[in-house]
Amino acid sequence: MMGTVLQDTGYSVETLSGVLTSSRDFLRPLRWEGPGGDVNRRGMKKFQETVGFSAHILHKIKDILDDDPVFLECSCGKSYLTFALNRILRELYGVECTFYGVDISESLIGKCRGIAASLGFDNMSFTAGQTLGFNAPIGKKVDVVVALHACDSATDEAIARGIKLGARYIMVVPCCQNQLRGQIRSAQALHDLTDFGPLLYRFADLVTEALRAQVLRGAGYYVEFHEIVPPTVTPKNLVITARMMRSGKKKGMDGYRRLCNQLGVRSILEDFLPELFNGENG
Ligand SMILES: C[S@@+](CC[C@H](N)C(=O)[O-])C[C@H]1O[C@@H](n2cnc3c(N)ncnc32)[C@H](O)[C@@H]1O
Repeated sequence: MMGTVLQDTGYSVETLSGVLTSSRDFLRPLRWEGPGGDVNRRGMKKFQETVGFSAHILHKIKDILDDDPVFLECSCGKSYLTFALNRILRELYGVECTFYGVDISESLIGKCRGIAASLGFDNMSFTAGQTLGFNAPIGKKVDVVVALHACDSATDEAIARGIKLGARYIMVVPCCQNQLRGQIRSAQALHDLTDFGPLLYRFADLVTEALRAQVLRGAGYYVEFHEIVPPTVTPKNLVITARMMRSGKKKGMDGYRRLCNQLGVRSILEDFLPELFNGENG
């Protein structure tokens, strides 16, 4: 699966891993440094997710790399992803992009600021707060919105924020999806499937991602799904990739509506993007 994701990526996962592991000074502040200078066991899963997602992002945005793209990482936590992207972009591409990070946890944002300072990455800034309330400094654009395992509806916040900011790319790897499960009740066409607890869980996850994709489509994005790492690394390996279509034309919410009506559900994205839904035709 890894191969299919990265076939035509400029740099292989091995190359990107090599760039990140070649410096203990990079691994140490992220607490990834192992005894032999490799990545330690505790950090290996996040490291693999980070490298896989970085490879995917860099492949997808290669057409805008010359335009000094500005990144926003939503629910950044300790910002492993954007610290890695920053290092890779500097080392392999020779570019220094601007990175914003937002997370609801003040203490994690404090850690991010400390890590950025110790790495000498003064092209990164971090804000404590909800993703939905994030604003770039006045007059600054955001081109690429990313989120890795933003809990539950924090992924929807990243999508909504990306759409509102007019981001050219929105790429999210969702985490847990709890918002729809309770809404999928017996009175719908697929109740013979959703009657089984574990199947309901998986089905609700898929419906959540499909509705997110339909909203992004409706907002004028071309949407694809990929896997950033094999499911043996993490089952939460799906990335929704949305690229703003050149026409910028909004397609409407027909796909979203059909799915909602079939299953009797409603996505929280309707609350996050009232202007998009109020403007729909049908
Ligand atoms: C599972 S962690 C993932 C952190 C990081 N992206 C990573 O991959 O290591 C989820 C993060 O989402 C943050 N979070 C949850 N709800 C949020 C919201 N509404 N806005 C911003 N951050 C949020 C939490 O504080 C936490 O750091």
